[in-house]
Amino acid sequence: MTHSRRQLIAGNWKMNGLTDEAMNLATDLVTRMAKIPNAPFEMLLCPPFTTIRMVAEVLAGELMIGGQDCHASEKGAHTGDVSAAMLADAGCTFVIVGHSERRTDHGETDAIVRNKAKAALSAGLSAIICIGETEAKRDSGSTMDVVRNQLSGSVPKGADSDNLVIAYEPIWAIGTGRVATPVQAQEVHAEIRAWLADHLGDEQASQVRILYGGSMKPNNAAELLAMTDVDGGLIGGASLKAEDFWAIAQNCTSLG
Ligand code: PGA
Repeated sequence: MTHSRRQLIAGNWKMNGLTDEAMNLATDLVTRMAKIPNAPFEMLLCPPFTTIRMVAEVLAGELMIGGQDCHASEKGAHTGDVSAAMLADAGCTFVIVGHSERRTDHGETDAIVRNKAKAALSAGLSAIICIGETEAKRDSGSTMDVVRNQLSGSVPKGADSDNLVIAYEPIWAIGTGRVATPVQAQEVHAEIRAWLADHLGDEQASQVRILYGGSMKPNNAAELLAMTDVDGGLIGGASLKAEDFWAIAQNCTSLG
């Protein structure tokens, strides 16, 4: 199956990587990417803030770089936070917002996530907005309601296929080794695209990339990435090993 949308393979390094590890990982991936002119996928690395600039310097245009979070304000008295403009200044073109670990660890609500996404867009970044249900919500049959509510609350005005990526990450699949089945992923991705069609129109909805995240690994990526509405992956654990991350990308079905 081919995709009209170019698939995006994004690595979310989370709180991992000191200088050596970060540089080795990035350099390895750059070397692999440089050997495939016109790769049928795009690759994005989202390292912790501390290594963004140094990683950006070795990417040489082969891979893209993004942040894992940004503050909703442009600047000011927010100790420990980083603005979207600072990420752009360090070389980023993307930022993840609303990851479930941020929603849980830092109490981020949909409204906060929307404001962060808005700040990202204002700074010229693309926002990867993460959504996904808990195991309890899936068991109670309310996955689609949860996802629609999160989209309504988190996607800001002004978002379109040039600056918006949605990552569907069922919380029960993140870091657990328990991946969604391709059918489960496709059902939710189709629902997300239907929501996008209702709110941004059919044309835009057909162009926005929807990533799957949650225990995507080399041994399960092929069938997930083959689904019609799965336009790539947001990968945590398996993005920390160049070989695994690369192996996942080799399953992309986009023609570019
Ligand atoms: P995982 O993480 O691949 O380790 O499950 C995915 C994510 O949290 O983005």
